[in-house]
Amino acid sequence: MTSIINPGVSSSKNYTVSVSSGSKQDLIIRPRRLRRSATIRRMVGETNLTVNDMIYPMFVTEGEGQKIEISSMPGCYRFSLDLLLKEVKQCYDLGINAIALFPVVNDGKKDETGTESYNPDGLVQQTVKAIKDAVPEMILMTDVALDPFTSHGHDGIVDEQGRILNDPTVEVLVKMSLAQAAAGADFVSPSDMMDGRIGAIRKALDSEGYTDVGILAYSAKYASAYYGPFRDALDSAPKFGDKKTYQMDPANAREAIKEVELDILEGADIVMVKPALAYMDIIYQVKQATNLPVAAYNVSGEYAMIKAAAQNGWIDEKRIVLETLTGLKRAGADLILTYFAKDVALMLNH
Ligand code: PBG
Repeated sequence: MTSIINPGVSSSKNYTVSVSSGSKQDLIIRPRRLRRSATIRRMVGETNLTVNDMIYPMFVTEGEGQKIEISSMPGCYRFSLDLLLKEVKQCYDLGINAIALFPVVNDGKKDETGTESYNPDGLVQQTVKAIKDAVPEMILMTDVALDPFTSHGHDGIVDEQGRILNDPTVEVLVKMSLAQAAAGADFVSPSDMMDGRIGAIRKALDSEGYTDVGILAYSAKYASAYYGPFRDALDSAPKFGDKKTYQMDPANAREAIKEVELDILEGADIVMVKPALAYMDIIYQVKQATNLPVAAYNVSGEYAMIKAAAQNGWIDEKRIVLETLTGLKRAGADLILTYFAKDVALMLNH
């Protein structure tokens, strides 16, 4: 048996045709038959994008009556809690199952070690309680990282030399996770890239009785320029240096698998690759390496690029969004965090 797709290589795949060597091929294979109509294409479609796959990142800010558009993320807003609740209800009615919540904290509440992050009455904790009251079925994933809460904007505690201290940071991340779990978070989502944090958080959650609270681990999170608009949204850009001693080097793939394996060993329930588009190969490899659900974060810069080109009339936004997100699923993402989640819900529902 010789494959016509790869002559000389034997294949048992049923889409190949065997031709005895030297003989003339007398059969034309016509793949276009399966593209002939919309119904056939739907029937043989390998990848189906649904709202069930989407996790919607949302920003909450202090105060009341606030709905402030983020200039580098058109269509995304910082909501105060009262208006956020309305938005969350609407999203749930559109079929969105899960929200990733990010706080925009006043500068006055920021300090060197991010103590506000585990205040039981802090913004995230209050917001989680209020959403759980209003829309109990909505799955809430809370970000575990210090950057929204530190005066210097880093995800960790910094020493005098400007080094990010791993283990003291993990202690704060544990307190933060417990505060979020106590408020009612369904999944805590460490996005900081400190070593050993998944294990420490899992242990603490279990010993405090939060055995049902899951961990969505930002396992392979790269030091990426694609986070720019998000840092505008939170006003959280680091005041000095960069995040390259904790977030991963974009040049590395095997290291991503190592990070994913460690997070799984430490107790992650879902592993994530972030950003998504420049890291499709990583999504694919992570998918091969684990049976856990794999999430991909279609980050702020990826969103902003599409929005900017669409606003210029250079691309067809709706088609680009669906093609991009379908591509992420095809690469292996079971779940996609995307600022397009609400738009996609509207597109797929209508
Ligand atoms: C911070 C965090 C970042 C994002 C999510 N959590 C930014 C960063 O690491 O600096 C980025 C999300 C996006 O760009 O959409 N812990």
